[in-house]
Amino acid sequence: MFVTFEGPEGSGKSTAMRAVAKELRAQGREVVETREPGGGKTGAAVREILLHGEDISRLTETFLFLADRSNNVKSIIKPALESGAVVLCDRHADSTVVYQGHARGMDLDTLRSLNSTATDGLKPDLTILIDLSPEVGLARIESKDRLDAEPIEFHQMVRQGFLDEAAREPGRWHIISGDQEPEEVAAECLKAVTDRL
Ligand code: TMP
Repeated sequence: MFVTFEGPEGSGKSTAMRAVAKELRAQGREVVETREPGGGKTGAAVREILLHGEDISRLTETFLFLADRSNNVKSIIKPALESGAVVLCDRHADSTVVYQGHARGMDLDTLRSLNSTATDGLKPDLTILIDLSPEVGLARIESKDRLDAEPIEFHQMVRQGFLDEAAREPGRWHIISGDQEPEEVAAECLKAVTDRL
């Protein structure tokens, strides 16, 4: 099963994902954790450019996210799914539609089509959206990267973009409030995953 975790900055998705992985392993399941950008060694190099590079246009940014995704799917996600593991991915294709589409203004259908090429048609079985207002999320972040540093209006479009994407495909998405204790967020995520297993 392929599960992706999405949400605005500071939503707590990475912490929740780690807790879910730990619990599933304790239940005896094989779990592979990855993230985008940044899966594997190549991904780590691309992540560094994306989060800390300078003079990056939105098209360059888009292609770098897609390049990282293509590599992550081919080298980590697909082999893990083929071996029967549960794959948990911290951000994936929906982040491109939301950040580069809803927030940066690139055409949504073009991004969906590019995503489909990058993932070779793979779609998550479940996408958990940890929803949170940008004011609360950004206040949780200690050192801001290139995207965190965008104005608040950008982050408001990101939040709304995720909610719009979730409404398009309600069967795939599960929305959880990030405005609660990390243990509560993790418990809700675990329930959403185990209900689908
Ligand atoms: P993270 O720090 O939550 O892992 O995400 C890295 C940043 O990259 C975050 O600001 C969201 C952004 N991002 C995009 O803009 N497009 C994408 O396709 C992905 C995967 C992330």
